[in-house]
Amino acid sequence: MKLQTILGISAGFHDASATVINTAGDILYAGHSERYSKQKNDANLHEAMFWEFSDGRHIDHIAYYERPWMKQLRKLRSGEGVDLKQLTVRQVLRQQLGGYFSSVPVTCYNHHLSHAAGGFQTSPFERATVVVIDAIGEFDTATIWAAEYDAAGQAQYRKLWGQQYPHSIGLFYSAITDRVGLRPMDEEYITMGMSAYGKNKDSLSLYMESKLVDNMSEIRFQDNLHTGVAADFMWDSEPEDIAGAAQQVVEDLIYSVMQRARSFGFSTNLVYQGGVALNCLANRNLNEYFENIWIMPNPGDAGSSLGAAALAYGKRLNWKNAYLGSEIAGEYPVSACLDSLLSDRICGVASGRAEFGPRALGNRSLLADPRRLDIKDKVNEIKRRQKFRPFAPVILEEHVHEYFDMPSGFVDTRYMQVVGRCRHPDLYPAITHVDGTSRIQTVPADGSGIRRLLEAWYAATGCPMLLNTSLNIRGEPMVNDRADADRFEQQYGISVFS
Ligand SMILES: [Fe+2]
Repeated sequence: MKLQTILGISAGFHDASATVINTAGDILYAGHSERYSKQKNDANLHEAMFWEFSDGRHIDHIAYYERPWMKQLRKLRSGEGVDLKQLTVRQVLRQQLGGYFSSVPVTCYNHHLSHAAGGFQTSPFERATVVVIDAIGEFDTATIWAAEYDAAGQAQYRKLWGQQYPHSIGLFYSAITDRVGLRPMDEEYITMGMSAYGKNKDSLSLYMESKLVDNMSEIRFQDNLHTGVAADFMWDSEPEDIAGAAQQVVEDLIYSVMQRARSFGFSTNLVYQGGVALNCLANRNLNEYFENIWIMPNPGDAGSSLGAAALAYGKRLNWKNAYLGSEIAGEYPVSACLDSLLSDRICGVASGRAEFGPRALGNRSLLADPRRLDIKDKVNEIKRRQKFRPFAPVILEEHVHEYFDMPSGFVDTRYMQVVGRCRHPDLYPAITHVDGTSRIQTVPADGSGIRRLLEAWYAATGCPMLLNTSLNIRGEPMVNDRADADRFEQQYGISVFS
């Protein structure tokens, strides 16, 4: 029997992406438009990716991640103005795909349901409580679902609770991100990093909550934070203190939703999705509410191309790992990387398939020796990012507990989704944040390139981990192809091996 293919798309807002699956449940491709267009957070699909995701295949069905008319209705309500050229999914796809795939049947799905499916149908669970928390899609901003497979293996979703626009945890955090001088809908992760430096968190978070939150348990805010907070909001506080307070408030809000989700008693398995699930600091305490936790490595809107495709397919997907994008062919350059790390303490690697999601997990990475304090400054010099931001460690899974106190509950810790306390911060200053935590990526014995490199590094040095940060030219998205890697080499004088 010929396998059919489903093309999932999320596009038109920010971080456009595409996913192709077949009807055996295999994920054939999942990638981000920005990596092709070189425009960070590119909202629109790029023609160069069409060739990769179609790759000579016939696309039988297109699944779109939200309902355009509903979104326009919300935009009408929010005063953003309606775009009459984006009322139907056909209009949106004509804009995104040009004349390509115009005869392929299309289905569009609810925005939060696409998030939920992208998580549940890649999880190992038979049934789970699904929590989705994001900024803004159609109307929903936080939802709780009961998800399970029926006897025929079809995923079934039942919505248990929801909060709607303008009451939004994601919009709250974006408003604060804007207030501290960063770019909303993009640099929330920097706000999170900054929060560790905040002083007087308890009193300032209480103040912030009293001024902005109306009802913590219902996730209701006093004002619509879509347009931000007042420019002079907490005018006498430093940005770090505001970020510290906001992190505390956002955690209280998230845990309030988790508490509610747990109280339905449907399942002790948690699938957590939506852009807010990228807050790896908040994720450390999810195990107070659920026993087993899965977050798909691309839980924001960019991951919803996969979610929409999953809904069209209906059953569990064969999730293996996040290496699903553009391919740089060839053996993983273990010995070249090892030599460079031993001599220069740093190297770039661009090999295999690009990561689907915001984190570089070893295939498009800048790697360095984590044992040296000066390495942080050296990597920062290349990345030219704020000095307060920590770098992440990638570690052989069997050694993780010697170096970090890992929060329990996560069924898979390969994706830098949660922080753990570093047990020897003085020995590994480059990968330890000021609050003593690290955002950890573990690597099991899966034969992957990064696994073999870590094994070789461990054999040579006795250290089972490396510093891992994304390989990108400043201001650009992650390196995608060899030409990008060449430009990186030229600009920074650091070898990138393929
Ligand atoms: Fe979303």
